Amino acid sequence: MPSSRSAFYAAAVVVTQVAVAANVRTTTPHMGWNSYNYYSCNPTEEIIKANAQALVDLGFADLGYKHVTTDCGWMSRDRDSEGRLQFNTTLFPSGGVALGEFIHGLGLKYGFYSGGGYLQCGSTDLPASLGYEEIDAQSFADWGGDSLKYDNCYPTDKVLMADYDSAEAASPARFQTMAAALDAVDRDINYFICQWGVGTNVGAWASAIGTSWRMSNDIYNAWRSIWRITNQVVPYYKYTTVGAYADMDMLIVGLNALSLEEERFHFGMWAINKSPLGIGAPLEPSLAPQDSLNILGNAEVIALNQDPLGEPARLVRRFTEEEYDIWAGNLSNSRLVIGIANWRNASQTVALDLGSLLGVASASARDVWAAADLGTLSGAQTLQLAGHELKLLVLSNVVSSSDSKPQAAGYYTAASGATLSGQAAVAGCGANTCLPAGQKVGDIYPGSAVTFGSVSAATAGTKLLGVDFINYEIALATAWDWGSNTRNLTVSVNGGAAKRWAFPISGGDWSDTGRLEIEVDGFEAGSQNEVVFAGFGSNPGPDLVGFEVFE
Ligand code: GAL
Repeated sequence: MPSSRSAFYAAAVVVTQVAVAANVRTTTPHMGWNSYNYYSCNPTEEIIKANAQALVDLGFADLGYKHVTTDCGWMSRDRDSEGRLQFNTTLFPSGGVALGEFIHGLGLKYGFYSGGGYLQCGSTDLPASLGYEEIDAQSFADWGGDSLKYDNCYPTDKVLMADYDSAEAASPARFQTMAAALDAVDRDINYFICQWGVGTNVGAWASAIGTSWRMSNDIYNAWRSIWRITNQVVPYYKYTTVGAYADMDMLIVGLNALSLEEERFHFGMWAINKSPLGIGAPLEPSLAPQDSLNILGNAEVIALNQDPLGEPARLVRRFTEEEYDIWAGNLSNSRLVIGIANWRNASQTVALDLGSLLGVASASARDVWAAADLGTLSGAQTLQLAGHELKLLVLSNVVSSSDSKPQAAGYYTAASGATLSGQAAVAGCGANTCLPAGQKVGDIYPGSAVTFGSVSAATAGTKLLGVDFINYEIALATAWDWGSNTRNLTVSVNGGAAKRWAFPISGGDWSDTGRLEIEVDGFEAGSQNEVVFAGFGSNPGPDLVGFEVFE
């Protein structure tokens, strides 16, 4: 076993506190180019070489884009007499070691692709690695491979390609088998799991064996897939850390699918979540707009992604009806990143209070996309956002004020003390689940409500509520339609207007709680505030564990 692998293993154990298999981990989210988003399952050697060369020629390699992954479609239908995968020599006249030498000669990394089922994704006859894990891992090593993207198609047979329901599709076992096979070869290979987030607790098992893992179904060439994947990544901050990164999928920047503002939003959101950054655009000036290439090449945004602290930003506030989110996270050197995400396709002005939001008294601020220093900021800010803009601010020289954040002022459990109406019903949860209450209220369908009759507030007005909820309706089969990974509830206080809130995915299953912080108006001073959570639209809301009031 090469010593670098042991060293990485030791580091990985420290950071993730889990030890299933040894793996070579990248120390920042991997960056590179992948053939799939543009060339689908029809790559050729010429295409791979041209794009690898372009990574260097256009300066992307120097920015960190190193992994050149040939996705689906590279192999021939038949394994050789020793059971080894073969390159399709019509499409890849040399392939193998020679292609690796070309890629390595450019200072880049040679990425392989296979899958843990019976056949490869996007094909009806190409062999995948099930039962051949050791042979295939050895081939990838023999060819000089540096990484393996490992997919999840045809898990039960050679008929059904994308299966989100079978035990096989959800099981970690096949991914663990390949992890062990990679571990046994005498070459350092990064393992990029592509299981799509099927089943439960994917972050827990995948972070233990892969340096990255896809947590969602495929990105799609439309703005709505940005909303869908963003809502699904929300709880993965629990698992993303140095050496282990939730993968939001290859980028659609440069594919003429989004406006430039939306491309900046997409790239920035992936960057602050510490997702791997895989260019999916063809790196050919006549095919990918220069403005898009400039977005992919924005060194300041890349630096947010590659920050050595490896801490993803978190969703810290959501304003559903106003259609914006605030994301924030720590960066190295005691800096902070804030992402203000305007989901509305029109400009709007939003307020951001650095004190109550982040406990920041003052800080030097930089607007990253504008590449402009904003001087020292303190207190309440007013920001202008273009439609679908993600404004990224980096705060440094941060002076904290510990008393400016609202403090916890009472917890209310949905399963006890609230009045349930309609279909809303208490559901029991296993030990140490549905925290902190250990129970939840589910089936909050339209026409159903959970009413808290005596909520205390010291003063009248708007309160911050930390709503503990559970939503694990993950958009897999619905990913290409309108699946959004959200469920809605309305909240009204003392008979006031019922305001809608869209709750993202909360955790790894239907008993893993997430917290959404929302600002709700209408409180009176006293202990008799009525707070009603109610179903909305035509679908059930998230399950409700309880909420905390902050004042
Ligand atoms: C999907 C995978 C994509 C791409 C595709 C190839 O399962 O998530 O990233 O590899 O297969 O068909």
